[in-house]
Amino acid sequence: MKKSLLWLLLLSCCSTPCSGSGDEPDVRCLKSFLRSVVDPGGALKSSWNFNNATKGYICGFTGVTCWSADQHRVWSLRLSGLGLQGPFPRGLQDCASMTGTLDLSSNSFAGPIPADISLQLPFVTSLNLSYNGFRGPIPPGMGKMGEFLAHVDLGHNQLSGQIPLELSRLRFLASMNVANNSLSGPIPAFLQGFPAASFAGNDGLCGAPLDRRCPASARSRMQISGESSVGAAVGFVLGFAVAFYFPQWFSRRLHPYVYRFL
Ligand SMILES: *[C@@H]1O[C@H](CO)[C@@H](O)[C@H](O)[C@H]1NC(C)=O
Ligand SMILES: *[C@@H]1O[C@H](CO)[C@@H](O)[C@H](O)[C@H]1NC(C)=O
Ligand SMILES: *[C@@H]1O[C@H](CO)[C@@H](O)[C@H](O)[C@H]1NC(C)=O
Repeated sequence: MKKSLLWLLLLSCCSTPCSGSGDEPDVRCLKSFLRSVVDPGGALKSSWNFNNATKGYICGFTGVTCWSADQHRVWSLRLSGLGLQGPFPRGLQDCASMTGTLDLSSNSFAGPIPADISLQLPFVTSLNLSYNGFRGPIPPGMGKMGEFLAHVDLGHNQLSGQIPLELSRLRFLASMNVANNSLSGPIPAFLQGFPAASFAGNDGLCGAPLDRRCPASARSRMQISGESSVGAAVGFVLGFAVAFYFPQWFSRRLHPYVYRFL
């Protein structure tokens, strides 16, 4: 009895912030985001004023969309074309309710896409990093965003290396754009259904849906990716069957969605 009381206390303490600055997680998230970006035009600084006593004031910030009028949690962050610079911004893992869009497109962000992006953005459905200066590989860890991520736009950066096979774990991928980068190697089988324009402008990419054939040495890799996409399809069907017959296993995870869309 005493033990469970202790647990209750611990749990309630962790679900409401009980340490550090005393900020709610979403406020902490936006504060560290603001600290980590370079904002020469002042687009964020002029709007993101944290000295505000109004409840849910962060929902009025430039680019911030909250869940609803009485749910002051960040749903989407749309910051396209604001002249922002710096590395991939930090702090997003504290916006734990962010299940909509992260749009950083058409800015001047640079450096790598973080390897642990799935930990920073575990639930976003749409990720737009296009028209920046991101360079280095597409992190294989992006495949771990597979529960929700449906739209990925990495076009017009300086990304290099091969498209990681781990992205086959993005089961709900509905659109994918990596055009105008410096990617190379074969396009994995599970991406060959997307239009050629999604892959254009990468000198080293080969295979369907592009016209450029891959050298024989690259084909064995495509074979492997073909098998893994069969595996993914089986997993997908299984996942649905389980979700259908044992909905209680999924209800907690899906709750935010149900809440949002009903
Ligand atoms: C405080 O937030 C409210 C709601 O978003 C907004 O209308 C108001 O202008 C803000 N006040 C300041 C001083 O930023
Ligand atoms: C990403 O942003 C660019 C530039 O703002 C836009 O043209 C493109 O349509 C966006 N992609 C997606 C998938 O929304
Ligand atoms: C890639 O570049 C071509 C030619 O400049 C352009 O038409 C296309 O819109 C670009 N796509 C992306 C995603 O950058």
